[in-house]
Amino acid sequence: MTTRPVPKTYRVKSFGCQMNVYDGERMAEVLATRGITPAAEGEEADLVVLNTCHIREKAAEKVYSDIGRLVKAGREAGKEPLIAVAGCVAQAEGEEIMARAPAVSMVVGPQAYHRLPGLLDRAIAGERATDTDMPENGKFDDLPARRKVGPGAFLTIQEGCDKFCTYCVVPYTRGAEISRPFSDLLREAETLVEAGAKEITLLGQNVNAWTGADDAGRAIGFDGLVKALAKLPELHRIRYTTSHPNDVTEGMIAMHGEVAKLMPYLHLPVQSGSDRVLKAMNRSHTADSYLKLLEAFRAARPDIALSGDFIVGFPGETEAEFAETLALVDAVKYAAAFSFKYSPRPGTPAASMDGQIAREVMEDRLARLQDALNRDQYAFNRYSVGRECEVLVERKGKLPGQWLGKSPWLQSVFFEGNAQIGDLVCVELVEAGPNSLAGRVLEPLPA
Ligand code: SAH
Ligand code: SF4
Ligand code: F3S
Repeated sequence: MTTRPVPKTYRVKSFGCQMNVYDGERMAEVLATRGITPAAEGEEADLVVLNTCHIREKAAEKVYSDIGRLVKAGREAGKEPLIAVAGCVAQAEGEEIMARAPAVSMVVGPQAYHRLPGLLDRAIAGERATDTDMPENGKFDDLPARRKVGPGAFLTIQEGCDKFCTYCVVPYTRGAEISRPFSDLLREAETLVEAGAKEITLLGQNVNAWTGADDAGRAIGFDGLVKALAKLPELHRIRYTTSHPNDVTEGMIAMHGEVAKLMPYLHLPVQSGSDRVLKAMNRSHTADSYLKLLEAFRAARPDIALSGDFIVGFPGETEAEFAETLALVDAVKYAAAFSFKYSPRPGTPAASMDGQIAREVMEDRLARLQDALNRDQYAFNRYSVGRECEVLVERKGKLPGQWLGKSPWLQSVFFEGNAQIGDLVCVELVEAGPNSLAGRVLEPLPA
């Protein structure tokens, strides 16, 4: 075994969902406890963590091309970076990665990365180390405290999935549903707010499946948690993602009319508008029950912006069934959405179903669906013109004096004026594009 130099700099590259982004931040915090610092922009790091996603084939394949690129860039810079593969590909294909990619010295799963320091020691000693355990008491208790964050912060409150949709790898890569304890979440939220977060986005594979007990020991659900967090005085905005239709409760719907800090936005994936396809997907909701939920959310919060996820070309999907998805989209009028071609995933029931759909057919359906979704998103943006709202400033725009932030409805808004990152600026939305809006500052901030 050849020993390796102790790394001084790291880079964590996260792919996939926001929970991976959260995990990536926490891995960086773990590495910082070992005195390893972030590599400067444009510099090759001594240690690279690829925090991967396994949800679709393309995402999973990416890890191998990234490893090749890292090895090449390292060679050109005269070094051999330590490479760790983390995230959902690590969990699903850890052994295969070790066999296929000799440059990788660590494989660590999404529930095991609190043990990165131990893996790192083994890698420095020249071993190739794998940890894809899903320890029963979880990783959160062993992670260091949160560090400084920007105006918007992520907070994972729930992890894992027990739903087993027939196309999906998440129940295998992330494990069973767990809810983090209320007091831990309150403490982490307080730390984030003290570090400057104005907005917290609560995360979970099925975030609204969260349950717990408050400080008095009373059982509470997701709505109870949101209401408790809303009491933090310096926290201005709360968001959450991703919620599942089957875990929606009356309390969750009602909170959208009750909690002023809760932003008027709901991401509720539906996947298909056809009940036959939904059944084959094991979604356990129908198009109609889903539409009824959206109606209830709109009744509680009339301006709520709605978003969803869609899969086209699930095995056996007919043209008529796809047309039902288009009809559902027409009925809802989404403000934003994510849509994907079905990707067969190893080990999932759908991968071996009859009626796999040809790529060209999927591409054609995806293009038609995205036309409809883009049309509705643009319409929602145009409809927003004239609204007065707060924008949370996230960064400088491209032009001098220009700033970029998010509206309550999660739209990107540009405006010119005097501002700083983290400000909540009152604007009137004056012009709409397909993907962003222009705002005019209503109350100029003091110079
Ligand atoms: N738990 C969330 C979704 C998490 S995965 C929910 O069920 O609502 C994010 C999205 O990826 C899914 O909503 C789905 O649209 C998409 N997805 C998951 N598996 C997929 C697959 N095998 N092929 C294509 N898209 C997939
Ligand atoms: Fe995957 Fe379904 Fe679980 Fe969402 S609910 S993570 S799509 S299995
Ligand atoms: Fe991808 Fe894992 Fe998230 S598969 S979408 S990174 S839960």
